Amino acid sequence: MIVKTVGLTRTYRRGSSHIVALNNVNMEVEEATFISIVGPSGSGKTTLLNLVGLNDHPTSGKILFMDKDVSRLADKERRKIRLQNIGFVFQTFNLLPTLTALENVELPMALASVQHRMQRKRALKLLGKVGLTDRLQHLPRELSIGETQRVAIARAIANDPSLILADEPTGELDSETAKETVNLLFSLSRERKTTVIVATHDEKIVEVADTTYTIQDGKLRLGS
Ligand SMILES: Nc1ncnc2c1ncn2[C@@H]1O[C@H](COP(=O)(O)OP(=O)(O)O)[C@@H](O)[C@H]1O
Ligand SMILES: [Mg+2]
Repeated sequence: MIVKTVGLTRTYRRGSSHIVALNNVNMEVEEATFISIVGPSGSGKTTLLNLVGLNDHPTSGKILFMDKDVSRLADKERRKIRLQNIGFVFQTFNLLPTLTALENVELPMALASVQHRMQRKRALKLLGKVGLTDRLQHLPRELSIGETQRVAIARAIANDPSLILADEPTGELDSETAKETVNLLFSLSRERKTTVIVATHDEKIVEVADTTYTIQDGKLRLGS
């Protein structure tokens, strides 16, 4: 089991109102599986990924990452686990606009204090893997939207994470580019035995997923 949540709950306070964004979520994710989470906008998908990605604290309940309770660790510890074990892919890519494709992929390795020569070597290899050897020196604004997402995928796997969290990774892509992106994410995860959890509306992702969950009003259930 790579991720397990137990009674995971997150509420937000908005003035006098209380929003239950995640309501008693119990989820068990096996290693090397591809999981999709579907649900309408506002159902709690991003909240769940933020918690599993150690970017947020639960209001109650817990998260086990590789059998270790990580829900209440100090920020420094969480950051370390996140950097070394978790890769993120976002709907809007979140590449740094002033860094080249190559530098964007090197960045997570720099943060993890990987030697610069190694960073470069590995970034070159990963950009080759996602088919961008001829786009190394391009800035994000000089890339097509599909190329941008491929750089983001290369960046997500830079530190060889055991878990990739992708939040609507094809939401901004046209259907052909979306299909290529799904295939890339899927084949990379199979090849590297990486676990992937994808929040999505995309039928193509649901089709390839080993397991699909549905989330509605913060409640998670198995099945689509
Ligand atoms: N920082 C926040 N403060 C207050 N409410 C929030 C915050 N983030 C999310 N919410 C609310 O929590 C619910 C779940 O949001 P979210 O997880 O972003 O859903 P999804 O990703 O499925 O669209 C929504 O009702 C949303 O408005
Ligand atoms: Mg969202």
